[in-house]
Amino acid sequence: MASIVWDDKFKTGNNKIDNEHRKLIDLINQLSDAMQAGKGKEVCGKVLGDLINYTKTHFAMEEQLMATHSYERMTEHKAEHAKLVQEVLDFQTKFNAGAVTLSVALFTFLKDWLVNHIMKSDMALAHGIAK
Ligand SMILES: [Fe+2]
Ligand SMILES: [Fe+2]
Repeated sequence: MASIVWDDKFKTGNNKIDNEHRKLIDLINQLSDAMQAGKGKEVCGKVLGDLINYTKTHFAMEEQLMATHSYERMTEHKAEHAKLVQEVLDFQTKFNAGAVTLSVALFTFLKDWLVNHIMKSDMALAHGIAK
């Protein structure tokens, strides 16, 4: 399964945000590796949990930055975070119930999810607070 390769086009210019995005990409790739290696539900479930926890930590960090800088689009950005977390939590619930397995579809979902959010909203955030 293809993994996500860090590309400079993902750079928002805010080091703290960028470093955390690298870590998120790393976790998505770990999940993809675990799936590909045919690791059991326990291992995959743990990596999925780590990814979700780190995502929450990362979103909280960005939200703190938005508050500190009175970022004008904070409400929309926070709503986007909440929706993303809800989507991945829904997936985790189904995964834990055995209703879905980790698959290429999940990897594609996570990849699009992260890349689209970084390229649009996080880019706007980094530029907005650097003014
Ligand atoms: Fe964000
Ligand atoms: Fe982000």
